[in-house]
Amino acid sequence: MIKFTRVSKTYDDGATYALRDLNLTVANSEFLVLLGSSGSGKSTTMKMINRLIEPSAGAIELDGKPVKEIDLVQLRRSIGYVFQGIGLFPHMSIAENIAIVPRLMGWSKEKQTARVNELLDLINLPGSYAERLPEQLSGGQQQRVGVARALAIDPEYLLMDEPFGALDAVTRDKLQLEMLQWRKTLNKTVIFVTHDLFEALTLGDRIAIFHEGVMQQVGTRSEILRTPATDFVKELFAKPAKQLQEFGDLV
Ligand SMILES: Nc1ncnc2c1ncn2[C@@H]1O[C@H](COP(=O)(O)OP(=O)(O)OP(=O)(O)O)[C@@H](O)[C@H]1O
Ligand SMILES: [Mg+2]
Repeated sequence: MIKFTRVSKTYDDGATYALRDLNLTVANSEFLVLLGSSGSGKSTTMKMINRLIEPSAGAIELDGKPVKEIDLVQLRRSIGYVFQGIGLFPHMSIAENIAIVPRLMGWSKEKQTARVNELLDLINLPGSYAERLPEQLSGGQQQRVGVARALAIDPEYLLMDEPFGALDAVTRDKLQLEMLQWRKTLNKTVIFVTHDLFEALTLGDRIAIFHEGVMQQVGTRSEILRTPATDFVKELFAKPAKQLQEFGDLV
């Protein structure tokens, strides 16, 4: 469980809020989507969980324990993080990129190789890609490697910050479908950031909508479409809500 209690993040001596008074609980094994426009506080929310950013106020807990009290190395090992943008190390092979954390943890070469092969299989890349450099892969393939790297030591939590951003529509659709498959088998607590409405509606058990640092609403697809909490949410979902109504699919 990931729990935010009255969490705010300010910059410029408190003059600007990146995030304001966030109260949010993510249940174990839940797949929560954070949706919002650029600058609405999504990455800030994610980075505070593994303490890349410290909140200005409020508390964040993992399974009832304040993240501030968890050993930093342990905290980060329990959280797989797919960063916004691709972020693979250009001079390391795909296998080395995927096995960064296993290597740091002192896994044997055999165990690392076995895990890399398992993960390449999961992300639908041929085993022969292990020895390639990132530049020898397409953008979509690199994005998948980013997902594999985050999963390397089978962390309990997975944070994915726009993992499919900046991809063409076809590749994106394909990865979204793969994500739907992964979801079922992974059985992890996932927070997934996007600014794509369709992605949010397809993937999320619940969707949290952010606007200018304020969480507008969190709820299931049908809660959000049926009873938008603010004008912002209503306008954002007006088009899909209308389309779904026409198809009689507002369940
Ligand atoms: N180091 C910083 N100093 C000042 N302001 C910052 C800093 N980091 C982030 N911000 C501001 O905080 C706000 C939220 O940023 P954040 O990265 O969380 O947005 P986001 O929702 O992830 O946007 P995007 O969709 O573009 O990735 C933005 O207005 C940003 O300019
Ligand atoms: Mg961001």
